[in-house]
Amino acid sequence: MSLHPVGIIGTGKYVPERILTNQELEQMVETNNEWIVTRTGIRERRMAAAEEATSDLALHASRQAIQAAGLTAEDIDLIIVATITPDMFFPSTACLLQDKLGATKAAAFDLSAACSGFIYGLATASSMIASGLYKHILVVGAETLSRITDYTDRNTCILFGDGAGAVVLGQVEEGRGFRSFELGADGSGGELLKVHGGGSRVPASAESIEGKQHYIHMAGNDVFKFAVRIMGSAAEDALLKAGLAKGDVDLLVPHQANIRIIQSALNRLNLSEDKAMINLDKYGNMSAASIPVALAEAAEEGRLKEGDCLVLVGFGGGLTWGASVLIW
Ligand code: UT7
Repeated sequence: MSLHPVGIIGTGKYVPERILTNQELEQMVETNNEWIVTRTGIRERRMAAAEEATSDLALHASRQAIQAAGLTAEDIDLIIVATITPDMFFPSTACLLQDKLGATKAAAFDLSAACSGFIYGLATASSMIASGLYKHILVVGAETLSRITDYTDRNTCILFGDGAGAVVLGQVEEGRGFRSFELGADGSGGELLKVHGGGSRVPASAESIEGKQHYIHMAGNDVFKFAVRIMGSAAEDALLKAGLAKGDVDLLVPHQANIRIIQSALNRLNLSEDKAMINLDKYGNMSAASIPVALAEAAEEGRLKEGDCLVLVGFGGGLTWGASVLIW
């Protein structure tokens, strides 16, 4: 696919210390541990400390990824931060991160594709390296979803958590690296999952706050149906583009939204559950951070062997989706 083979040369992750359990949520909204576990698979999630914002979570994950790649911050040519919870409107979280890292030679921008943001970031970065424009790109998925979650809304507050994952992309040897990307969007489904207020359509005001428009609103069941359809088909299309078959897959690293969505993707790909990296029981849905955190944990746990065929796949607000096939 590429002029120079491009792959992931370092991974890192960070999750805040504070754990929010299902039992604590039982005290906050009309829900129960059993409902949450059976309907979603989530048992607990992390919450950023009051003084932590998205760039702080991103910083820890990025330092780890850069170190794992055997590089220093000054070796990074570009920083892409995929997030829907930037520290502020602008400057971008990527610029804030660039300063914190001391990555003085890096260009920096944020990318908004909700839970698919990390895959969109990988596609963007890998093309820029393949073309010879840049050598080393830091791609981060980082979120503090707790800041836009309504903890009186049981439809959403049980799902989301905070965290950050990062990777460094660079040239790899022949036979390894990214084989394909499959990105997509359906803006007609934008209403299904959104934060309506605080932008240019509905600027922040006493009324927008009163109307809770600064929080995530989601038509859960419609998003669920979309996710079940798109996870399998995006993964299949990415495999087809890569010239590989379902049976070639060693590890699926899916967006961690709901265990039932992951299971349906596994069924469609004829894969058993041990072929998927699953950590949503510990972290819930961290939007753009879910896939890179899962990838970093797979690396930590020794689940990534040289030559393994990995499929990364996610979906989210927009609506958006993305899948990638890579050889580790
Ligand atoms: O990254 C992308 C972001 N979003 C997602 O991936 C979300 C995708 N959607 C989902 O994961 C699921 O739709 C949910 C987990 C959000 C909901 O599960 P569901 O099986 O689709 O449930 P439902 O929305 O159809 O609701 C079933 C029932 C309802 O009660 P009634 O109307 O049948 O009496 C809900 O009010 O469950 C009720 N319910 C709850 N009960 C206890 C909804 N939330 C809760 C809750 N605790 N937290």
